[in-house]
Amino acid sequence: MRYTIYLGGVILIPLFLCQYKKSKNRDVEKTTAISSDDLMVSEKIALGRALFFDSRLSINNEVSCASCHIPELAFTDGKKVSIGVAGRTTQRNSPSLLNAALLPTVMFDGHLPTLEQQVIVPIQEHVEMDMNMLELIKKLRKVDRYQKAAKQIFNREFDAWVLTRAISAYERSLVSNNSPFDRYCNQKEQGALTESQKNGWKLFSEKLYCTQCHAAPNFTNFEAINNGMYNDFGNDKGRFRIFNDSTDIGKFKVPSLRNIVLTAPYMHDGSLHSLDDVINHYVAGGSSHINKDIRIVPFSLSENERTDLKNFLSSLTDTSYMIDYK
Ligand code: HEC
Ligand code: HEC
Repeated sequence: MRYTIYLGGVILIPLFLCQYKKSKNRDVEKTTAISSDDLMVSEKIALGRALFFDSRLSINNEVSCASCHIPELAFTDGKKVSIGVAGRTTQRNSPSLLNAALLPTVMFDGHLPTLEQQVIVPIQEHVEMDMNMLELIKKLRKVDRYQKAAKQIFNREFDAWVLTRAISAYERSLVSNNSPFDRYCNQKEQGALTESQKNGWKLFSEKLYCTQCHAAPNFTNFEAINNGMYNDFGNDKGRFRIFNDSTDIGKFKVPSLRNIVLTAPYMHDGSLHSLDDVINHYVAGGSSHINKDIRIVPFSLSENERTDLKNFLSSLTDTSYMIDYK
């Protein structure tokens, strides 16, 4: 609701609190949120949650999904790149799983169409959980609780179908959309943001070009883009490794900036330690790679503006999901 305030004959119309274009990718049909059967959702989530935290999913019983997707860190792991079984290092930085239900494609390469398909990847990946799927199913069928739940919820033996459906149901339940920014925008709570955060939002959305790719309300356009990280992407060329198309070199899926203060270090390879490093990257306009998006151009920023921008980014934190992890 908007109020018109009369003050000594002068009409003041308070500014719209915040306005953003609805991202085209938000329609539910286009996201992985669709599920063919939504029966017994809470039971599926409970089973998926148990599996997500179960290190028996890895070959040496040491690594679970939650080893690299830690609830307190918005389901990231705080490391530059993730560490799997026997201390093996992956090539990439662990992304947040909050609001995963909204992802039209999964992974930094933006190539997997569903969360269900993704589950199989870390389980079988040599440097992550290094488990053979057939062996894993044999192992987990021996767990009474899992067998019983599979029969009760899916009316079948515990198998890869049950495993992937249950974990994906759990991932879809991970929601974070009640940050101070959301309260300011959606509930029109003026006091939810400080003046500095409001200035930061104005910078982010109007003066700089950040919303072109990190569009509200999800703070991503979900596209794979080259944001000028390197002149030479070395042995991780991003989406190029999937389709071998040279125009894909250096393209990585734009990450959501929700809970960004919890998810350092940043970028696909965790090479930027802090938000200051990230801001320095954009101020400088990135590399001169041929695929660099034309919207990445140098700009200048005063010290006050930098503070406002960082304060705005911190207004995207919502840890109310943590209530389930006390
Ligand atoms: C060894 C650490 C590690 C383990 C174990 C692990 N992940 Fe990940 N996860 C990562 C990394 C690193 C990425 C980024 C990979 C990429 O995009 O190429 C990732 C990406 C993802 C994504 C894609 C998110 C997005 O924004 O596109 C999902 C979903 C996910 N993991 C879920 C899981 C599930 C479910 C499990 C357990 C079955 C799991 N992960 C186990 C490290 C790990
Ligand atoms: C042309 C698209 C584009 C624009 C414009 C853009 N970004 Fe990004 N941003 C990306 C991509 C792509 C990545 C991921 C790159 C990677 O993983 O190597 C990213 C990553 C980030 C990250 C790290 C996220 C994480 O979880 O690792 C932050 C923070 C960020 N951008 C902030 C900003 C800010 C602030 C602006 C405005 C000054 C901005 N971005 C403008 C495309 C863009």
